[in-house]
Amino acid sequence: MNRRTYLQALTALFATTALGSCSQGSMERKEEKLSDKADKAATLLPGNASFDVPNIPEDNLNFYLVSDLGRNGYYEQKPIAELMGNLAEKIDLEFIVAAGDTHHFNGVASTQDPLWMTNYELVYSHPELMLDWFAINGNHEYRGNTQAVQDYSKVSRRWIAPARYYSKVFEAGENEALEIFFIDTPPLIDKYRKNTEKYPDAGKQNIEEQLKWLDKALSASKAKWKLVVGHHPIFADTSKSDTERKDMQERVKPILDKYGVDMYLCGHIHNFQHIKPAGSQVEYLVNSSGSLARKVNQTEGTQFCSPEAGFTLFSVNDNELTFFLYNSKGKILYQYSLKK
Ligand SMILES: [Fe+2]
Ligand SMILES: [Fe+2]
Repeated sequence: MNRRTYLQALTALFATTALGSCSQGSMERKEEKLSDKADKAATLLPGNASFDVPNIPEDNLNFYLVSDLGRNGYYEQKPIAELMGNLAEKIDLEFIVAAGDTHHFNGVASTQDPLWMTNYELVYSHPELMLDWFAINGNHEYRGNTQAVQDYSKVSRRWIAPARYYSKVFEAGENEALEIFFIDTPPLIDKYRKNTEKYPDAGKQNIEEQLKWLDKALSASKAKWKLVVGHHPIFADTSKSDTERKDMQERVKPILDKYGVDMYLCGHIHNFQHIKPAGSQVEYLVNSSGSLARKVNQTEGTQFCSPEAGFTLFSVNDNELTFFLYNSKGKILYQYSLKK
């Protein structure tokens, strides 16, 4: 049962109870609801007066992809967080994928690190963002205590990081499923493995084990839609070292191709890039930073790019997977659909 079906069932149950008990109570509830609405209008829409709201079919599964967030709320982090909450009021958002670098610059020291408050809890405090956040590590998490990122799942009910790599199946539409495979990319890149002083945990992770897991999990998947999420890109325009993408192309890309993954999603570059390399079945999306972005140029296979900060909204149903790239002002910069 997805979140909407659950809420509908719950609403129906309460409606029945109200009719069965007393109509007076239902009247009071109605008034309460109206006053809640007035409160919401007064308190939850201080900024982002207008923003694009896509026309999404009712049964769609909707979620955000965010990455490269943590700047202690500075730059555009707070307005983007507020926009994410305000947009979630208009659509039925199920969950959020946090694709790493939740904490720039040196990760976290522990589950008690105050950065959990300044980079995350107090910034994404909108009531509509109290959803499951499925998280992975970025390179900046690997500069600190990466175990604390998993252990924070025991502190916060909304932070979901059961392991460094894992998968999750979601209902997508009436009959179909979406499976997301979350991978741990810093250890897959030699540059980080070799720099044991700066990235102490990267070299300790077993590459072969992770890749074997991904191969096995994809081969066992019955989902119609398959997305793989990692922090680092496989293809991107960037001034960062080519070896990052080369290692990802050698280690991860063959597995995506083998199982016909629909999209590979990542962050790390701090701008938006939708890339479809010639002959590739897999579509590649670089999600921008949720706080501070960098410029970008076209590269081979670029379908769209933008140097703006923001986030991505995904909307999936039985036959269609659509993504919308949002800037910090709430404008949809680009949208794209895959059909099956
Ligand atoms: Fe980053
Ligand atoms: Fe990064």
